Amino acid sequence: MTFVVTSNCNGCRFTDCVAVCPVECFHGDDKMLYIDPDECIDCGACVPECPVEAIYDETELPDDQQVWKQTNADKAKGLPVVNEKGTPSPGAEDRKKELGF
Ligand code: SF4
Ligand code: F3S
Repeated sequence: MTFVVTSNCNGCRFTDCVAVCPVECFHGDDKMLYIDPDECIDCGACVPECPVEAIYDETELPDDQQVWKQTNADKAKGLPVVNEKGTPSPGAEDRKKELGF
């Protein structure tokens, strides 16, 4: 099993999630983060940290977010580990409001 980062992260990239991950399984590009499913230990600690509720247990992924399971697996492998909280994406606060948070 694994947890999955979904579309709300894209354009936000708040990175609160990485600060609590005990196994450093978040990887990122300039738009968002992705969880390596082979490293995630399913602790769930990251879920409540995300201000835009982007992270789901794979078994609870909404239908319109299913694509992100494979995308996380594919993308995480080729991107650097992100393990320290950084500056959110430009416009992240506006996007957060647009998303209803
Ligand atoms: Fe890391 Fe736990 Fe979140 Fe998996 S569920 S990404 S191990 S904090
Ligand atoms: Fe993205 Fe939320 Fe983490 S916006 S970087 S999943 S805290």
